[in-house]
Formats: sequence, structure tokens, C-alpha cells
Amino acid sequence: PIPVIIDCDTGVDDALALLLAVRHPGLDLRAVTCVAGNTDVDGVVRNTLTVLEQAGAPDIPVARGAERPLLEPARPARHVHGTDGMGDLGLPAPTRAPAAVDAVTLLHREILASPRPVTLIPTAPLTNIALLLRSHPEVTRNIERIVFMGGAVATGNATPVAEFNVWHDPEAAAILLTAGVPITMYGLDVFQQVVVPGPEVHRLRASAEPGTRLAGELLAHRPTSQGGPPEAEEAGGLGDAGAVCAVADPQGITTRLLPVEVSLAPGPSRGQTVVDRRPRPGESEIHEGRREHALVDVALEVDVDRYVKLYLETVDRAAP
Ligand code: BDR
Ligand code: CA
Repeated sequence: PIPVIIDCDTGVDDALALLLAVRHPGLDLRAVTCVAGNTDVDGVVRNTLTVLEQAGAPDIPVARGAERPLLEPARPARHVHGTDGMGDLGLPAPTRAPAAVDAVTLLHREILASPRPVTLIPTAPLTNIALLLRSHPEVTRNIERIVFMGGAVATGNATPVAEFNVWHDPEAAAILLTAGVPITMYGLDVFQQVVVPGPEVHRLRASAEPGTRLAGELLAHRPTSQGGPPEAEEAGGLGDAGAVCAVADPQGITTRLLPVEVSLAPGPSRGQTVVDRRPRPGESEIHEGRREHALVDVALEVDVDRYVKLYLETVDRAAP
């Protein structure tokens, strides 16, 4: 199996990603690190530990990471993920504590200890990853690639042009893009497309197996600001779990290697991933010379049915 580490802000859809990574036979989830994003970092740690217990994987090391972005204060997405960051589903508290070491230390240790190069899957603001790359740049020699959920080619969600994970810590995202390892951007353009049909969500919710049932509850979660319980047969997005699908089954997405730059300027574009899809250079290059931007494998299309099938087949199986 592919050795993977997830860096997350659990998070309703981060939880879906964890469930998939734990249960997919082609993936070896070696550690999970937590960062402030959807909720405060202590909430993220708690949610992550609970999800792994429910998924039947209580031994995977989990570490607490950054409590705020590099420059700005944390801005939790409680209107989407509820006050506890997990859709206020009333999940039990975890029975264990996180690792004694912090996220950067755990990432450093696990990446270098892995017998095969690790694939990192950040599904959250990139603060921990930026701190790792700055504190221990040698980790890149044992990183196969980084497949991150974040950014958008077209429309944003946190702002008209910026996706939440990049918007929450744009400087960290800029550091990631220049890490010097292969990077795949699983952005909003594909993220929003992968939706599990209502009857399937309903079936998962009716399961007697705790992890499978949790997946159903999470898929049925509606953004908290929309209020009210979900309809019995409402469809639900895979969200961050799509980035895990992209590692388990890369053929399900169509990518193109494109220059990507994060807008760091204050103002309406801050946090935007500016993706250059032009077939030839424009006036800025003609007058100012070609600027070097990181080349990123950007996901432009996704085979929705394929990833929905992959998710259902994988999660709806007995605990590992
Ligand atoms: C991203 O932001 C978070 O709310 C989700 O968990 C996902 O990682 C989508 O913009
Ligand atoms: Ca997330």
C-alpha cells in the first residue's frame, strides 16, 4: 500500500477522508496531524481521535499542530461545520490523548521513518506543512508527492475567488507550492462535484457498523447555517475525501501541469490560487519578462461516478 499522512482540520468532510484512508486496502495511513481551520485546533484533535476510534483505527498516531495561521488569527468555519467542527452530531469524546509530540515533529519523524516515500494529503489550511518545510526541509527527500485539497481554478468559497484552506493561510499555501516536490491541487472545481446520491447516504446511515454509519451521518450533514435536520434521502458531498480518492485512484481525475501562484496581497484577491491556463504568454510576460511560478498538477475534471463507487465500496466494509 501507499504510505500516506493526512494533515486535517476535522471537519465533517475531513472525517469522511479519514474513514476512507483507514479502510482503503491500497493506502497505509501512518499518521494524522491537526491544524486550526474548520474549528480550533483542540477541537480538531478531539474530532480526529473520535473519528479514528469510530473507524476502528484507534492506534494511528495523531498530533496537535498550529493553533493559528502564520500571519493572521484563526477564522473557524463554524457556520459550515457547527460549533464542535463536526456538524454537532453529538459524537462521544475520544478515549485517548494525542501524541506527546507536536504535528511538525510527528510529520518529520514519520516521513523520514517510512521505508517508502510518503504521500502527504493536506485537507486543511497549510500551516503545519509550511512549518514542516521550513523547519525540516530534508523531509522532501522522502515525500513522493503532496495531494492537497485547496484552491480553485474558477470560483472560491471563502471569498468570490479564494477557497477556504488557502484563504485561511495564504502564506503557508505559497510555501507549499514552492516545496520542490510534485504537487497535485484537488481544488473546489472538482471537490464540489463529487456527491453521493441520497439513497446511498440513507443506506450508510442505516448500517449497524459504527464507521459506516458515521460516514452516512456526515454525508447527511447540512451546513449549520442552513439549519434543520437533513431530509431522509438527501445527497451529500465527499468533500475532502475526494483528495484521498485522488491518491487511491489517480485515474479518476484529469490533471494538467500549470503555473499556480497564491495571491498574497491584501484586498479582494487575497488567498486566490491564480492558475495560468493561457496557451501562450501575455503582455505581462512580454513587458516584464517571464516570472517563475510553481508548476502544479491541477485537477480539472473528475469522474464522479467512479469516486462515489470507490468511496461506497471502501467505507461500507468492516473495520480494519
Ligand atoms: C475546505 O474547507 C473546509 O471547510 C473543508 O473541510 C475543506 O477542506 C473546502 O474549502
Ligand atoms: Ca478540511
